[in-house]
Amino acid sequence: MIQAAFPAGFRFLPEYFNRQAQRALMDAVLAARETAPFYRPSMPRTGQPLSVTMTNFGPLGWVTDKEKGYRYEASHPETGAPWPDPPELLTTLWRDVADYPAPFEACLVNYYDGQSRMGLHVDWDEEATDAAVVSVSLGDKARFRIGGPARKGKTHSLIVSSGDVVVLGGDARRCYHGVDRIYPGTSTLVPGGGRINLTLRRVSVPR
Ligand code: SIN
Ligand code: FE2
Repeated sequence: MIQAAFPAGFRFLPEYFNRQAQRALMDAVLAARETAPFYRPSMPRTGQPLSVTMTNFGPLGWVTDKEKGYRYEASHPETGAPWPDPPELLTTLWRDVADYPAPFEACLVNYYDGQSRMGLHVDWDEEATDAAVVSVSLGDKARFRIGGPARKGKTHSLIVSSGDVVVLGGDARRCYHGVDRIYPGTSTLVPGGGRINLTLRRVSVPR
C-alpha cells in the first residue's frame, strides 16, 4: 500500500472533488482575482521572486517579501483589499478531513505554470502547528515530494491530479515537502493551462 512509505498523518485522497466541484473551485479562484489578483512574491532577504504566483482566501493570507519575510496578513500586499471569503466547498472539506476544533483561517492559492516548482520546505509560520495543512490540487498533474523532518532525509513522491486532496497532519505536519514539476497539458481545468494548489491552514491557536 502506497501510504506505508509516507510519514504518519499523511493522507492522500485521490479525486476527493469530482469534476463539477473542481470547476466550482476554479470559478471561485477566477472570481477572486477581481479583488485579489495573483502576484509574484519574493523570498525573504534575497528578494528573489518565487516561481509560483499567489493569492489567498480567508481572514488571513500567507505572504512573503524581501523586507518582512514569511508571515500572515489580513490584506493583499498590492491592493490593500481584504482577502475574499473562501468558497463553501473548502469549509466543508476542512470539516471533513482536518479533525480540528476550529475553522481554517488562510487558504493560500498558488499558481504553477509549466515551469514552476516548489522547493522542499516545511510550513511553519503558523502558531497552530497542531492543525493539519490540507491541500487541494486543480488543473495539470504535478509530482509532489515528501520527506521527513530533516531536510536531507529520504523522500517519496506521488503524482497529484486535479481534484486530489493531500492532508499533512500528525508527524507529516513537520515534514519537508515540495513540488518537483508540473506535467503541462494534462488537464483542461485551468484556463490557459497550469496548476492551482489551494492550501488551508489554521494560523492562530483557538481560544
Ligand atoms: C505547498 O506545499 O505550499 C504547496 C504544495 C502543492 O502545491 O501541492
Ligand atoms: Fe507547503
